[in-house]
Amino acid sequence: MSALPNFELHDLKPAVADFRREVLAGLAASPRRIAPKFFYDAAGSHLFDAITRQPEYYPTRTEIGLLRAHGVEIAERLGRQAALIELGSGSDIKIRCLLDALRPAEYLPLDISLDHLRDSASGIARDYPQVRVRATCVDYTREFPLPPIAPEAHRVVFYPGSSVGNFEPADVRDLLRWVAGMVGPGGRLLIGVDLKKDLARLNAAYNDAAGVTAAFNCNVLTRMAKELDAQLNVEDFGHHAFYNEALGRIEMHLRAQRATCIEIAGQRFDFAEGEGIHTENSYKYSEEEFGALAASVGFVTEQVWCDAERLFSVHCLRVGALS
Ligand code: AVI
Repeated sequence: MSALPNFELHDLKPAVADFRREVLAGLAASPRRIAPKFFYDAAGSHLFDAITRQPEYYPTRTEIGLLRAHGVEIAERLGRQAALIELGSGSDIKIRCLLDALRPAEYLPLDISLDHLRDSASGIARDYPQVRVRATCVDYTREFPLPPIAPEAHRVVFYPGSSVGNFEPADVRDLLRWVAGMVGPGGRLLIGVDLKKDLARLNAAYNDAAGVTAAFNCNVLTRMAKELDAQLNVEDFGHHAFYNEALGRIEMHLRAQRATCIEIAGQRFDFAEGEGIHTENSYKYSEEEFGALAASVGFVTEQVWCDAERLFSVHCLRVGALS
């Protein structure tokens, strides 16, 4: 693609050394864990896109339905000509549902997956030449410099997909405080939140019949082999996902199907059959639970949109006086 005058890409992609350090620490911990942010190399991002097309995975199509149905009302709430920051932008389908109605002055997507971000953000710059697009490849859970935004610009953060569910509730508070600081008093956050629902539906969404979620989960092992030169046998591990009702979360694990080991940088980690690595939590909230969490850090809920089956919710939050 030729250079687009309204497009910039800032590459603050985490170094392989960070990946190695976190994986070594996670495998040495008890229980063993690897953070879900490491799912998203190029292959993982493609697998995630494929998950969103599975019939069992209702969140994406439900959220897109809400954004399409209420786009104009949402834009009126958020205000036009904003500096629109999107967290974990990934694929661009959702933001495209809003752009025509929202008409932001600039769009600043943040994502950990470089190729995915480049493709989607440059596509938006091409299709919306009046919008200045400044994309940053970054692990936004760490401190980083946001591209400078004019102080008088009104800022809006869009955080779709219920990615907030992949954080522990205590960490969500820190994340929401960070967002509140970014948009400033009176600024707004539009956030997608997956809702609590019947067990069968939740379990099916993370155990699709085509095995795409299983491949997504196992891909982190392939990534470790490729990028960290880890000695391991991917086939020795299986996908295990279930809804933990007491904790209100889907848990994903990689479970050893037989006794095996992983070796990285001279360190060896033995697994007995059935032993696992905890790779992801996906917390589900009731509308009230999420409202209370947001209020605890000073956000005021202005409006919540839900589908008729109450599968998924989109919340418009405004930074109130307390945060
Ligand atoms: C990105 N995140 C909100 C997804 C979720 O549903 O927690 C990731 C995912 N993991 C398995 N399927 C989808």
